[in-house]
Amino acid sequence: MIQMYHVYKIYDGDFQALRDITIHIEKGEFVFITGPSGAGKTTLLRLIFCGEKVDRGQILVKGKNLIKIKGSEIAYLRRHIGIVFQDFKLLPQKTVFENILFAQEVIGLNGRNINIKRRAWEVLSYVGLSHKKDSFPLRLSGGEQQRIAIARALVNNPIILLADEPTGNLDTDMAMGIIGLFEDANAKGATVVLATHNREIINRSRHREIRLNRGKMINS
Ligand SMILES: Nc1ncnc2c1ncn2[C@@H]1O[C@H](COP(=O)(O)OP(=O)(O)OP(=O)(O)O)[C@@H](O)[C@H]1O
Ligand SMILES: [Mg+2]
Repeated sequence: MIQMYHVYKIYDGDFQALRDITIHIEKGEFVFITGPSGAGKTTLLRLIFCGEKVDRGQILVKGKNLIKIKGSEIAYLRRHIGIVFQDFKLLPQKTVFENILFAQEVIGLNGRNINIKRRAWEVLSYVGLSHKKDSFPLRLSGGEQQRIAIARALVNNPIILLADEPTGNLDTDMAMGIIGLFEDANAKGATVVLATHNREIINRSRHREIRLNRGKMINS
């Protein structure tokens, strides 16, 4: 599903945020991307959804070569990718419900359609926050915002689910509950790539771990 061959990402001319990364992630796999702050976890996820261009090497996602991908194809690829950003990126002027609807509208669905609304309601219930549907994101706790971001990532039934520190700032019980949501999506077929430096979560779940340190992979 995701293949990287000798991938490099270079910032500011000579800083190698990622160095010689070769990874194969199979369809339906669940992998953790781990490593200390600054290791390159977010950068790696950004390459997968074309948030950044690869500077050297090759990357294929769903069989598509991202080195050669065109703008219109990026939009198409992103329809199939759900992303939970490290800083949530919820829209502050929209309510929780509108945030979820918006994620459906950007892929061309009609937010006034009853089935689209029903689906938004469904994912909000799923993360246990349907009672907050009319709240504005900034009025919610960090953990609640995190769950809304997850609901939004799930709403379009993505084939690939990328999550960047989705349990940051949460206690272990809540964090394990969140991991459970990703496990469920994975059980339904989604390929999950989850970046975290929470050792407890990694140790409790039995998934492959891809470890980064200063942009280098130290195992696979
Ligand atoms: N746009 C950018 N311009 C310059 N340097 C960048 C940019 N984005 C990331 N970096 C640098 O690349 C390195 C890797 O950053 P990245 O955000 O991928 O780390 P991370 O593993 O996600 O860390 P954290 O656990 O703190 O989120 C860092 O040293 C960072 O400063
Ligand atoms: Mg990061």
